[in-house]
Amino acid sequence: MKQPRRFETRAVHSGEHRTGAGDARDGSFYPISTPIYASTTFSHPNIETTDRVLGGEEQGYSYARYDNPTVRAFEEALVSLEAPESQAGVRAFAFGSGMAATHAALAAAELTGGATVLAAEQLYGSTATLLVQVFGANGVETRFVDAYDLGAVEKKVAELKPRAVVVESISNPLLRVADIEAISGITRAAGSALIVDNTFGTPYLQRSLELGADIVVHSATKYLSGHGDITAGVVAAGPPYDAAVEQIRKLVGGVLGPFEAWLAHRGLKTLPLRMNRQCENARRIASRLATHPKVTKVNHPSLEDHPDHETAGRVLSDTGGLVSFELAAEGREAAFAFLNALKLCVKAPSLGDVYTLAIHPATSSHRELSPSRRERLGVAENLVRLSVGIEHADDVISDLEQALDTL
Ligand SMILES: Cc1ncc(COP(=O)(O)O)c(C=O)c1O
Repeated sequence: MKQPRRFETRAVHSGEHRTGAGDARDGSFYPISTPIYASTTFSHPNIETTDRVLGGEEQGYSYARYDNPTVRAFEEALVSLEAPESQAGVRAFAFGSGMAATHAALAAAELTGGATVLAAEQLYGSTATLLVQVFGANGVETRFVDAYDLGAVEKKVAELKPRAVVVESISNPLLRVADIEAISGITRAAGSALIVDNTFGTPYLQRSLELGADIVVHSATKYLSGHGDITAGVVAAGPPYDAAVEQIRKLVGGVLGPFEAWLAHRGLKTLPLRMNRQCENARRIASRLATHPKVTKVNHPSLEDHPDHETAGRVLSDTGGLVSFELAAEGREAAFAFLNALKLCVKAPSLGDVYTLAIHPATSSHRELSPSRRERLGVAENLVRLSVGIEHADDVISDLEQALDTL
């Protein structure tokens, strides 16, 4: 049997519109990189074709809020990474941000008045707020659960019979790893849709749909595009959710623009290379910090004392590029002093970029939470999070050590 093309090969070649008369004005050449189609609308040789394209009877492009060749190229590349041959029918849809993608995924799971959604306590704050404020205003009740405690998930699903369960493959900032395979067993049995935000994992480390998720969401602002220069989001799903996501995107209009789609697609080509380096650097940094006298606790799934070390080995192909750690010195002041002493690592929120980024979760991603809720989630005042980049690991370690020395 012919060996299917590997992930790395698909990342480089998939989606590119290199053939087909529609893509080349002159049959004697075609571009090897899909051009940026900066066009709001598309014309056809005759109005009958336009009629068929608008009616969905013929493949084609009509209006850029519905579809655009540059955006489609990025989406096709994503489908080839999320759902190789084994999952026919999966489609991907690109949005202007991860939040727009998350909104569409939630709406596609029919979160309408009277429905209950069960969400991980550790969810990205804006996703939790979106559920409570926007979906809550329309009569959806959001309940929370520790998604990394399978017994608790099983109990809550049986009790609430939620329409959807929302979890992240890897949580922020403690890098807990969800057992998507086990959770999908629970949601399947209950008839609930499982939505996985796989922003921290990417399809290189986990194909959530293969593990049983119904809908997967990514903030493509992060690892997928990888260079810290765009905001973008993606939803990938098979029937019946794909058609619902498509319709919501058409009506709400949060589609990704062609310039950003082109950059995202270019970034995607090096995802495996970047992720390999980021995971390797993160492992080295985590093990170095774990023995440093000015650090008391390090969170990274590669470490044997991480609560999900074993789960990570089953549901991820590597342990990810984020590391967080608590300083021996107490309080917010210590974390701020450490961050201000960094010379190479960039002090900024977001993650997944080629640069190493350092941030204080208690005053950034978890700023809106009360101090007691932060404490319950383990987000200490002296906790620092690193999104490890692709630099030489020794240079990053030297920077971290010189900043620790100043404390
Ligand atoms: C896990 C996760 N999901 C979703 C988002 C939202 O993505 P965006 O900022 O692209 O809207 C973020 C942003 O930080 C995130 O970390």
